[in-house]
Amino acid sequence: MPMGTDSRAPRCTAVVGLQWGDEGKGKLVDLLAPRHDVVVRYNGGANAGHSVVVNDERFALHLVPSGILAPGATTVIGNGVVVDPARLLEEISGLESRGVDTSGLKLSDRAHVVLEYHKAEDGLREDLLARGAAGPRVGAGTSQEIGTTRRGIGPCYADKVTRATGVRVGDLLRPDALRRKVELACTMKNALFAGLAESNGIEWAPFDPDAIVRTALGYGEHLKSRITDTTYLVHDALAENKRVLFEGANATLLDVDHGTYPFVTSSNACVLGAGPGSGVPGHQIDRVIGVMKAYSTRVGGGPMPTELHDATGERIRERGREFGTTTGRPRRVGWLDLVALRYACMINGVSEVAIMLLDVLAGFDTLRLCTAYEIDGVRTDRFTPDAEDLGRVTPIFEEVDGFGQEITGVTTLDELPAGARAYVERIEAFLGVRAGLISVGPDRAQTIIQDPALNAPAEAHA
Ligand code: IMP
Repeated sequence: MPMGTDSRAPRCTAVVGLQWGDEGKGKLVDLLAPRHDVVVRYNGGANAGHSVVVNDERFALHLVPSGILAPGATTVIGNGVVVDPARLLEEISGLESRGVDTSGLKLSDRAHVVLEYHKAEDGLREDLLARGAAGPRVGAGTSQEIGTTRRGIGPCYADKVTRATGVRVGDLLRPDALRRKVELACTMKNALFAGLAESNGIEWAPFDPDAIVRTALGYGEHLKSRITDTTYLVHDALAENKRVLFEGANATLLDVDHGTYPFVTSSNACVLGAGPGSGVPGHQIDRVIGVMKAYSTRVGGGPMPTELHDATGERIRERGREFGTTTGRPRRVGWLDLVALRYACMINGVSEVAIMLLDVLAGFDTLRLCTAYEIDGVRTDRFTPDAEDLGRVTPIFEEVDGFGQEITGVTTLDELPAGARAYVERIEAFLGVRAGLISVGPDRAQTIIQDPALNAPAEAHA
């Protein structure tokens, strides 16, 4: 039966990260993808890192939607994504060499292209910020460095909104337009960055437009069969009553408008980005699943009120294998911040949450939950996303019982130790939404599914 003919389940579902990324969205998308016909990535680029474990095999995906691992799915890299073609081609061939069928992967002709100069600019800007060359320090005792992934994300989005120098995927098939844009970009960037680099003693080689155009046209040749108008593709699927899954990359607290600015990424990483990043109006999304870890992590700079700098943090980092999928950097670790999470639920209008990595917290006598902030002597339960203010908050914690036993083999809520169950219930009560799914290990099988809609048997694709 084609999926679209079952009217019980929502037609459009979005999966978004509620914290600072790496919540385990990949696992959830992988679980949900077989119940959808089309999986759409709508923001970010190769800064994202989704790891999915299937039959003990770990897949690390950066640009390709995690839905690719569901046989037969159409996966879409939407117009809101910034695409590094070299990395995309590498990822595609890596998947194919492991037997994954990538024939259903489509790429929006309106997505923007990350070119060599974007990556160089990202690195140069970070180096300059690290040297304090661009103004006063911001954030909570952090350096000015944003701590980007240096994948060219910010500079590429900047060119997109600057317009004349924005290279779209469709331009990889239009040599004249491509050359015009790249030449203009190189003229501007060479003048700007050569000067900045020189005055800061940073080595810098000017960009060569001919080489960039040549390489880019080669990428276009390789990607040609996948490049299409994905806005129509998704709308055609919806017109046929098919089901669409929107896969958010990065996460809500990294959202350029609603996150902990300026320590954010350069796109709308919460569900609000799904509309502009795919061409589907937001009101058509009828279910939003917010993915959260059972604790907090953050990679890169910026304030993180509940951060742990002690042995407890170290233990969570080791147990949770909290090292970046994209950059390998150790992640900063902290107790669960319910104030931030309730804000993220509000921004995304979440229908339910998926609590990931609960198993990591086994073995602690007590656990702590941040349920309020104190800022300038005033207590509040409202989140304050601007980094200038968030850097000044003191977290107020509630201490709750921990759980001693390992829970990686548990598959129902009833089997969870009392401490773990109470922890989940406290989260649900504070956030005002239910936990539709609780993950207790990386494998698909290590999942407690409470929402029957998530448990529906997977059907073959139409
Ligand atoms: P950018 O997206 O590379 O510009 O990095 C901006 C900030 O977002 C940095 O702190 C990155 O570490 C962080 N970031 C970007 N994408 C992700 C992600 O997928 N997971 C976690 N952190 C991310």
